[in-house]
Order: sequence, then C-alpha cells, then structure tokens
Amino acid sequence: MQNGSGFEKYRCYRLENDCLQLSTMDLGATVTSLRFHGREMVLGYARAETYRERDAYLGAVIGRCANRIAGASFSLGGEIFRLSANEGSKQLHGGPEAFDRRVWTGEATNQQLRFFLSSPDGDNGYPGNLQAAVTYRLDGACLRMDFEAICDRDTVYAPTSHLYFDLSGRGRALEASLQIQADRYVEVDEELLPTGRLLPTRGRYDFRRLRPIGEDYDHCFVLDGQDCCRLEDSGVALEIRTDFPGVQIYTGRFLPPPHHANSGVAIEPCFFPDSPNQPGFPSVLLPKERRFHRWIEYHFRKTQ
Ligand code: BGC
Repeated sequence: MQNGSGFEKYRCYRLENDCLQLSTMDLGATVTSLRFHGREMVLGYARAETYRERDAYLGAVIGRCANRIAGASFSLGGEIFRLSANEGSKQLHGGPEAFDRRVWTGEATNQQLRFFLSSPDGDNGYPGNLQAAVTYRLDGACLRMDFEAICDRDTVYAPTSHLYFDLSGRGRALEASLQIQADRYVEVDEELLPTGRLLPTRGRYDFRRLRPIGEDYDHCFVLDGQDCCRLEDSGVALEIRTDFPGVQIYTGRFLPPPHHANSGVAIEPCFFPDSPNQPGFPSVLLPKERRFHRWIEYHFRKTQ
C-alpha cells in the first residue's frame, strides 16, 4: 500500500501462496486486491476512504440481505419489519450503513482469515441479534469463502460477496467471455424488482455456452447446481462454484470514478432479489439458533 493511501486506519490482512495473493481489510471484510501469478484480478481503490465515499460495494461483504427488498419491508411470523430504505422506497444491499461499511473483527492464521461482525437486533430494521462470520482461505489457485451466521430470533439472512472481476486489467469487462450454468433467470421490472416469474434463459440471457458478455446486465440467474459460472479473458479462466441458489451478474453500468462504466463485472453468488417477499423463491429464513452456512469458491487457471 502506498503512503497516504489511508489504509493504515484499518486493519489489513493478507494471505498468499504460490498462485494467489489476497489482500483484505476489516472495513466491510473487503477484498482490496486478488492477484493470480502477480496479475490483479479484481477492482479496488487506491485510497481507503474511497470505499466509504462511493456506493459501488467494491469487494465488500454484503448483508444482511443482498440486492433489493421491495418497499423496504417484509413480514415474518405475522409481524411486519420495516427496513431502512436507501434506494427510493426500496432497500439495497442491507441498507445505508450495512455490513460493507462496518468494521469487522479480523483474525488471521497463515491458513485463513476470519472476520466477525455482531449485528444488533433492529440493525437496519432486521430482527434479532445476528453473529456473522466470513472466512477466506486459499488452496492452490482457489480462493474459498465461507459465510456463517447465527441469530437469537427468527430472521432473514442473504449475504454475498461483491467482487468485481477484470481478468484482463484493461477495464473492459464486456469483452470478457462468460458462461453461466443457468436455464432460468429472475424476471425483473424497471425498478429491478422481481415479478415472481423465472423465465428460460433465451436470447440475450442465454449464457449456457461461453460467449462474450457484450452488453449490460444486472440480473440474477437461477443456478442448475454448484457449478456457477466461468469467466475468461486474456489468458485467464475463473471458475466459480457455490451452494447459493443464484448468481447476480452486474456489469458495472454505474461504476463511479476512478473506474468507469463496465470496467469490471460483479459476479455475486446469492439468493434471489426480494426473497423475503417472494414465497416462490428459495427461502432466506434463518430460524432462531440455527447455523447459517453457504460457500463460494473462485478457481483460477491459465488458459495460455
Ligand atoms: C446490483 C446493482 C447495483 C449495484 C450497486 C449490484 O449488486 O445488482 O443493481 O446498482 O450492486 O453497486
């Protein structure tokens, strides 16, 4: 990190092996850099404060619920919970001061990094005292993330990781090739809220074969299984595996400076948008004292 970059205000943790070098900080349990054989794979900021100033969620952990919640409210056990809205009447990515802006408690060993966060009852409107943990681990050319949580009340929980990938380092994500193991995607309206329908991935939504991204996306795809997707660019292939039921592909249309539109693609294995209000979607209910556990694996490979 350069002098004057402001990262000394936060605790920064690193993991590295022969293939990968991971840099993180306790603000948002954020990945600030991920290098594969020395080459940067993700978008980050040069100055720590930019993570607070911009709303792009670069490399952060999102919680309690990723994506949008209609009317910033949901009901659970006959009770209505009003959440803090931060996008018109909706809540996006857990609200205004959510997990991405919290300082997590870090714990490092040479094998893994763990981050812990206590989210109090009523945090951004969500019920229950929730204890959240995120673990980063390297295994050869694989970065694995585990998301765990437990709550003292019935609640909803749907975190994700908001890494933006730019495998080429050229800032032209739409030129990368993508394959998504999805036969369906979540139909959304003009406010990017689900209609409740899952449509077949035809035409522009068909990524069943590897092909250039080409145009803007901000959509959630319904995964067939644990093979999520593959991204390829400039001699590097990234394969993502997960046990989340969906993946949000966001091509960074509104990425603020110092980046520019489409300079990276956010690939977010996750539950579907507005899940607490959509009875037909995989449930995000986390029953009291039940352990939450989901994982994501990022496998890198050279193709040339
Ligand atoms: C969402 C976008 C949103 C962006 C904010 C993405 O995860 O899908 O709709 O604008 O986050 O950075």
